[in-house]
Amino acid sequence: MIFHLTNSKQDHPEIASERGLVHDIVIMQIVIGNVLSAEDVASVRAALANARFVKGRETAGFAARIVKDNRQAASDDTSLEPARALVMQKIADNDVFRLAVRPKVLTPLLFSRYEPGMRYGSHVDDAIMHGIRTDVSFTLFLEEPDSYEGGELVIETAMGEDAIKLPAGSLVAYPSTSLHRVAEVTRGVRHVAAGWARSFIRDAAKRELLFDLDTARRKIFERDGKSAEFDLLSKSAANLQRMWSED
Ligand code: NI
Repeated sequence: MIFHLTNSKQDHPEIASERGLVHDIVIMQIVIGNVLSAEDVASVRAALANARFVKGRETAGFAARIVKDNRQAASDDTSLEPARALVMQKIADNDVFRLAVRPKVLTPLLFSRYEPGMRYGSHVDDAIMHGIRTDVSFTLFLEEPDSYEGGELVIETAMGEDAIKLPAGSLVAYPSTSLHRVAEVTRGVRHVAAGWARSFIRDAAKRELLFDLDTARRKIFERDGKSAEFDLLSKSAANLQRMWSED
């Protein structure tokens, strides 16, 4: 199930179209637009242009390294620290991200580069990274889709494959439990920032339920103000969160 959201600080999450009808197959993917502004994207790209990149294979598990062919910014490249901090902050401050992912901790960000011929075959992300359980994976796109060919993030779901390629500054978050791959880049360069979250809510189905409930209660507040119905929905949302959260 895919939620397409447009996001800005002023607006509440706006859910547009494409909601699947199959509710028993839960694999919530969420697309969030404008996580980074055009200026943010430009400054991150400028930092990446001067960064040191190493083979991505070196950070993959024994099976994933067979299929991983990309480059990653060296983790000890201190010139990237301002860019890392900026992107991290923008993601952590994003209202829709917070509602959908309910992050407790985020791993350090990974900047990746795919040049023509590079790809990342089907794999599942490591369950623990930097000592953090990974519940949600996310990819923030840093290049405009028409500037490179290929490079879709393809996520395998029970309903088939979803190929995702977003405008620069937009992010997709999906359950870390899924198999996924990056299609071969055949022209241009694909830069992304990837990261992982440990969520307060481990189960994707529960995260989705809370997201729906919170979105509905905000809509009701917008329409009717602080009504008795709003208060009851708020009580349910808060108490389900208490019931399910791992703090
Ligand atoms: Ni992955």
